[in-house]
Amino acid sequence: MNTAQIPAGAAGTATATRPVLEVVGLRKRFGDHTALDGIDLTVEEGEVVAILGPSGSGKSTLVRCLDQLETIDGGAMYLDGELLGFEQGKVLRPLTDAGVRAQRRRMSMVFQQFNLFPHWTVLRNVTEAPVAVHGVAPAEAKAKALDLLEKVGLSDKATAYPRQLSGGQQQRVAIARAVAVEPRVLLFDEPTSALDPELIDEVLQTMQALAASGRTMVVVTHEMEFAREVADRCVFMADGKVVEDQPAEAFFRNPQTDRLRSFLARSMRRNDEQQ
Ligand SMILES: Nc1ncnc2c1ncn2[C@@H]1O[C@H](COP(=O)(O)OP(=O)(O)OP(=O)(O)O)[C@@H](O)[C@H]1O
Ligand SMILES: [Mg+2]
Repeated sequence: MNTAQIPAGAAGTATATRPVLEVVGLRKRFGDHTALDGIDLTVEEGEVVAILGPSGSGKSTLVRCLDQLETIDGGAMYLDGELLGFEQGKVLRPLTDAGVRAQRRRMSMVFQQFNLFPHWTVLRNVTEAPVAVHGVAPAEAKAKALDLLEKVGLSDKATAYPRQLSGGQQQRVAIARAVAVEPRVLLFDEPTSALDPELIDEVLQTMQALAASGRTMVVVTHEMEFAREVADRCVFMADGKVVEDQPAEAFFRNPQTDRLRSFLARSMRRNDEQQ
């Protein structure tokens, strides 16, 4: 991308409260296909923002760009006012790999497929990043991991291996692992989509508890009830654009566009059929 054209975020100005995350005019192309077409998004401290939208609308691409798993083609992203992916000097240069890694340590992502290390115990899965990447003392990391495992209802599984756990349990370990590094933002990409229906609620409850404890979260989800009850704001994406961005209650009760109205109607119908 032309680094001379990186837009400044409001975060760069001396506002009273600085957003944790700010995305300005974000663009991402895959070949000829524009996956993100000028995304603007602000996430405040302690806010839970749900990202909804049809398949292919760019939801995963957005969170993957935030976590710097993708390079971007335009626009800018800021974490606590710091430009992500680029050195902010007179001349803008892409960050070194070490610079990107340092920024990525301040966020955690929870994936649909858990991605636990199969040959490590639950405890090691949770303590590894704090010890190996963040330099936390092993005893301290262990105490914290046990505390987190208790919070996600898995104190009795610390010495188990991932294969000995259900999908819902594995995803709760993945959530504990994500929280263990005390990230500024937790990113979730459809954390319940790979789960059997009866295991979804336990994971959503864990996420609800995290939200209630004041964590800043961006959650891509198809779980309408969760979005309505737990998210502060809901963002509806279509064709790589943000079509609506509203407080959760207004989003569901008073959609402003036909596109969101029909998306909600379709999603509710699907939910009814599943019950
Ligand atoms: N690595 C890639 N290479 C090429 N095209 C891609 C790649 N990743 C995503 N895309 C395309 O970008 C668009 C957005 O994809 P994305 O995965 O972000 O959608 P999504 O909203 O997460 O969809 P879903 O609800 O199915 O997960 C799609 O058209 C997709 O095919
Ligand atoms: Mg996706």
